[in-house]
Amino acid sequence: MYRIKTILSLAAAAALVAACAQPSPQDRLTANDKKIDAVIAQMTLEEKVEMLHSKTNMSSAGVERLGIADMHYADGPFGIREEGVPNGFQSAGWQLDSATYFPTGSALAATWSEELAYQYGTGMGIEARLRGKDVILGPAVNIQRLPVGGRTYEYLSEDPILSAALSLNYTKGVQDKGTAVCIKHFAVNNQETNRGSVDAQVDERTLREIYLKPFERAVVEGGAMSVMPAYNKVNGDYCSENEHLLNEILRGEWGFKGFTVSDWGGTHSTMGAMLHGLNVQMTGSNYLGQPVIDSIKVGKLTEEMVNEKVKQILRVRYAIEAIPDDVANTKMTSQPECQEIALRVAEKSIVLLKNEGGLLPLSREVKKIAVIGQNAVLKTQSGGMGAGVKALYEVTPLEGIRKRAGDAAEVLYAPGYKNFPGRRWGPAPAVADPLEAAAIDEPADPKLLAEAVALAKEADLVIFFGGTNKSIETEGSDRANIDLPVGQNEVVKALAAANPNLVTVLISGGPTDLRELESVSPAIVQGWWNGTEGGTALAEVLFGDIAPSGKLPFTFPARLEDSPAFALGNFPDKTQGGDLFTLMYREDVLKMSPAERQAFIDALPKPTSKYTEGALVGYRWFDTKNIKPMFAFGHGLSYVEFTYGTPKAVAGKKGVKLSFPLTNAGQMPADEVVQLYVRRPESRVEWPYKELKAFARVSLQPGETKTVTLEIPADDLRFWNVEKNAWDLEHGRLELLLGAASDDIRQKAEVSF
Ligand code: BGC
Repeated sequence: MYRIKTILSLAAAAALVAACAQPSPQDRLTANDKKIDAVIAQMTLEEKVEMLHSKTNMSSAGVERLGIADMHYADGPFGIREEGVPNGFQSAGWQLDSATYFPTGSALAATWSEELAYQYGTGMGIEARLRGKDVILGPAVNIQRLPVGGRTYEYLSEDPILSAALSLNYTKGVQDKGTAVCIKHFAVNNQETNRGSVDAQVDERTLREIYLKPFERAVVEGGAMSVMPAYNKVNGDYCSENEHLLNEILRGEWGFKGFTVSDWGGTHSTMGAMLHGLNVQMTGSNYLGQPVIDSIKVGKLTEEMVNEKVKQILRVRYAIEAIPDDVANTKMTSQPECQEIALRVAEKSIVLLKNEGGLLPLSREVKKIAVIGQNAVLKTQSGGMGAGVKALYEVTPLEGIRKRAGDAAEVLYAPGYKNFPGRRWGPAPAVADPLEAAAIDEPADPKLLAEAVALAKEADLVIFFGGTNKSIETEGSDRANIDLPVGQNEVVKALAAANPNLVTVLISGGPTDLRELESVSPAIVQGWWNGTEGGTALAEVLFGDIAPSGKLPFTFPARLEDSPAFALGNFPDKTQGGDLFTLMYREDVLKMSPAERQAFIDALPKPTSKYTEGALVGYRWFDTKNIKPMFAFGHGLSYVEFTYGTPKAVAGKKGVKLSFPLTNAGQMPADEVVQLYVRRPESRVEWPYKELKAFARVSLQPGETKTVTLEIPADDLRFWNVEKNAWDLEHGRLELLLGAASDDIRQKAEVSF
């Protein structure tokens, strides 16, 4: 007996040693280092330097004579972008490059599902490979600091734990399909205003605990193979030449072994890039081309430095199988299995914000539905500058509703309000604007309003589609405010007066000011920009085929001024710096000599963005300052009720574990996203009122109970100790707040940790 035990424990020890000996995901990238050194020894300096900058708008060079393929990039983050001409973003006019349009970042985040984030990544990976792409320019994972942020829809959440879990799984999904991610935009790209020149001034603790988390997990645990430094500066230095971010943290602390690619037009100098962590200049070669060779000649740089950079690029090149030109692009990019993933994500992302009187799901008695609002027919695949997709197909909300209603109900439609183009950049939207466009703040159009009200009176129920579009939520600029555009409030109030059975669906990527709309609309749904199958998923939820189960990944403030950066006067900074990327592509700037261009850039104003709210981003601020939002972080209703039983919690060296029974007390299958927040009632260190530390999506049949276990690893309970310049743990009493939303805590437990 003793002998068997010994053998067993020896076997267990051996397994443990083997597990410990497993190289980390980053270290795995070094598997070919010897081979790579030998190849580099055969390369000329010119060949090596060719690899440090763009070859075309979406590729960087390999070395043909040595069998090293070019590196092909594709946007990201929510679908493989249409093929562009070699030297620009204009369409190449291909036939087989229509991709699956996956729900955008905020929709994915609203699923709170690690599993779906993984699937999403696999879908992106599969389609990238069909197009011969090696690197996906995504996921985009910056924290949503400002409700007006132009890229809110691309990004995931205002919370680092949620963002990091999704960013990690997206990364794993992509890379498991043999494509590299290029996680972006590293780091602290939380605004588009002045994004090419703004200096984000953020303290070290906030940087570590909030803004870097989603990158850290993807790099350390997910083995992200490439990283895209952001356009902006962080604490004085451009991200593409930021010693602290790129060399000290990314490579030094996180052990990153892959390569970095500047955002397009985001490289700023030869020496800065070479010395402080950039591998590839995208696009152009004015910094990492001939000037590198010249600098070596005069002894300012060494060939060894170039070798090191090339080695980091080649590690990824060798890890990703290059797809021969005659194999790539022989099939349509969009694949049924990926469309299926897009549908599943959309189904789980839709958030039921309000459901007074149980208007939803739609009753079978409803025989005539009036669908009102431009956003019901809006295609959201393109626009928004870079991150557009030429979708193989996109089911709009109106199409989804009509198809699902079939012969059971008549569906009428009226646009209700004019289209609102705001700022448009890049190719025209895939669908021509059906109506003359209006300015964003124009009041409701009397003719369209009257037509909509007439339909509303005739119908049993009205579904109003409001929200924004991709010309106002876009890369390159932030929204001026979060108001509903073109008199939508006026329209919804008139509809409510005409018919009390009013459901509102918001089609937007970010939050909107719902004060007026909420006061007249008994049911409200956040429908997002939900991809190829968005309209199908929405109809399934409205008609009750499935229960809604999305939860808000960010706070909907009642008033914009309530949100932290606005309340503290940290945003907007009135300095006009401009979007450097857009400026660099301006006709007159393109014609400048390199010296003239540099002088032009140097003369630009130097705006800053002060992050004095520290860690109090999103709900951390609203909770700590006791401000009631319109809809809180984590909020989302279902068609069933869930019962949260008494939790049991234990704490140990590894962290905290909490288990509790969760019951679906309703009549249909449904998912609940349970959330565990931690409060530190007696701490010497300053903390937000509470912080999300664990969550889970749980599927339950009617009447079913499951024991749910949530774990908080000790690492997630650490804080960044600025004095020690290191992570630190503070032991003490922890209050565990378990709930259905940040403002809906159902159970509490306490542990000493
Ligand atoms: C965006 C990136 C994008 C790149 C290439 C830039 O404008 O900031 O997110 O990947 O363009 O399209």
